[in-house]
Amino acid sequence: MDFLKEQEKIIQNVLTKLGYEIEEVTIEGNNRKDLGEFQYNGMMSLAKKYHQNPIEMATKVAEELQKEPSFEKVTVAGPGFLNITFSIQSLIEKIEEIRKSKEYLSPLPKKKIVIDYGGPNVAKVLHVGHLRSANIGESLKRLAKALGYEVIADIHLGDYGLQMGMIMLEIQTRYPNLSCFQENFHEEFVKDLPITNDDLIDLYPIASSKAKEQEEIMNQAREITYKLQQNHPGYKALWRSIMEISLKDMKEIYQLLSVSFDLWKGESDAETFIPEMIEDLRKKGLVTQSEGAEIIEVAEKEDKIAVPPLLLIKSNKTVSYETTDLATIWDRMKNLHPDEIWYVTDKRQELHFTQVFRAAKKAKIVNDQTKLEFIGFGTMNGNDGKPFKTREGGIMTLRNLIALVKEAVEKKIIPSITGKEREELASTIAIGTIKFADLLSQRSTDYIFDIEKFSDTSGKTGPFILYSTIRMRSLLKKAKEMGIENPKMTQLKNNGDKKVLIQTLTLRKTLENALKQKSLHEIANFLYLLNNTYNNFYAENRILTESDKNVRESWVALTEYVYEINQLLLNILAIEIPTRM
Ligand code: ARG
Repeated sequence: MDFLKEQEKIIQNVLTKLGYEIEEVTIEGNNRKDLGEFQYNGMMSLAKKYHQNPIEMATKVAEELQKEPSFEKVTVAGPGFLNITFSIQSLIEKIEEIRKSKEYLSPLPKKKIVIDYGGPNVAKVLHVGHLRSANIGESLKRLAKALGYEVIADIHLGDYGLQMGMIMLEIQTRYPNLSCFQENFHEEFVKDLPITNDDLIDLYPIASSKAKEQEEIMNQAREITYKLQQNHPGYKALWRSIMEISLKDMKEIYQLLSVSFDLWKGESDAETFIPEMIEDLRKKGLVTQSEGAEIIEVAEKEDKIAVPPLLLIKSNKTVSYETTDLATIWDRMKNLHPDEIWYVTDKRQELHFTQVFRAAKKAKIVNDQTKLEFIGFGTMNGNDGKPFKTREGGIMTLRNLIALVKEAVEKKIIPSITGKEREELASTIAIGTIKFADLLSQRSTDYIFDIEKFSDTSGKTGPFILYSTIRMRSLLKKAKEMGIENPKMTQLKNNGDKKVLIQTLTLRKTLENALKQKSLHEIANFLYLLNNTYNNFYAENRILTESDKNVRESWVALTEYVYEINQLLLNILAIEIPTRM
């Protein structure tokens, strides 16, 4: 069991022994570390309940606790606070036990999760919004797996909407003689398509503004979207070719970000299930006609903000983003049978998911117990507090951002590292910098991405954590060379080392909280606190030249433990540890 929980139990037993009944005892970190590492503040309310003097009561409790081997010092302060200092020896024993058993990773009750994140749109450039979805989603996946869940990651490509129609129309306008636009075309792919991914990315904004400006062009794009959804051979082949070009580029960038998916499905895969789903919805009497469109009512009496009906089939006969998401749930429930489905998306999409989730429940596409969870995130802003832009004012693409941060971190790598190694290290550190910063803020809040601040080697930054991890690794290597193998923690000096031990106590709670809140900020913050405490200890002591053999070995063991925690948590945050810096 958790060290702190064990101590809470001891306090509770003492209280019971003294004749006081209490449901729960919670020990808290002490703000006045000079008085004690921890404090218990429950005596005042207990005294009120028993009509006794809180200071007298607290004094009696302190006397009893003082007899317990794990309590080194218990004092009473103010109106009846108990200040607590634990014995270093019982901490050492407990932590050695945790370190060996890795009990902080003991599995939670089994659950199967489908997690939907990434969500890039084919033929559109990846921007910082997609970065957040990828970062948060990947880390939540790794965290859930580390705590024993079965997790299936699905990228859910935006590969079938009107944007595809617009792009195909633009291609058709530019290259009307392509094979796919001729009659009797029946190939899988368009072999004569003269287009790269960069071209696609340039094409989209042009195609989209033309369609927005001219009704006629918009109608043509819709028509093509409709034909695509009806499996028109030429457009379908063009679509496949566009997909191929776009996916190749996406795979590269996700690999760079250490983000991976079990399923590369997309909106187009949901298409297969739409006819049977709509038939089922009609049979259940859930579909109503409205101005030429077909809709499902999802409003509820308690709604404070009006929830509009879900648009199932638009008046032009194409299906909406909502319908695709509903059909995706249909597919996932039939083929993957998850207990929960998580969606990591920009928080501005909340209403969309409210509509989809309600329709899914109403239509019994999911069971009553199935949990559908919207995990919305805020915007990454620039220093001006507005959505991040390039220096020229263009949209900040993922590649632009990586390049910019790379430039900043490259300057700080030691000069003796040159050439290709320097280049690769800069890339690894830059990505670690971006990810750490991105996961440090509470998921649903907007935050400012300040390149100078986040690439600094001190403070709550990726480079700080990475630097400190590398230093521990080289210390451990040296210790090994000196013959210290499988070190044990037996004796500490209470010179910064105990603080490190105490800092590790909340590891399990941090992991569980992060999973509960579906936010990684507590993990990032824990990493910072732990490394900061460790670095203070490191600065105050000469670990490898310490004369007392037991202390020396214990300090190496402590370093090993912190290094292991760093590896674990950086892995959950999907941040790679560079070889040098
Ligand atoms: N492609 C969408 C976008 O860029 C995100 C997809 C989110 N997932 C989902 N199942 N709708 O906004």
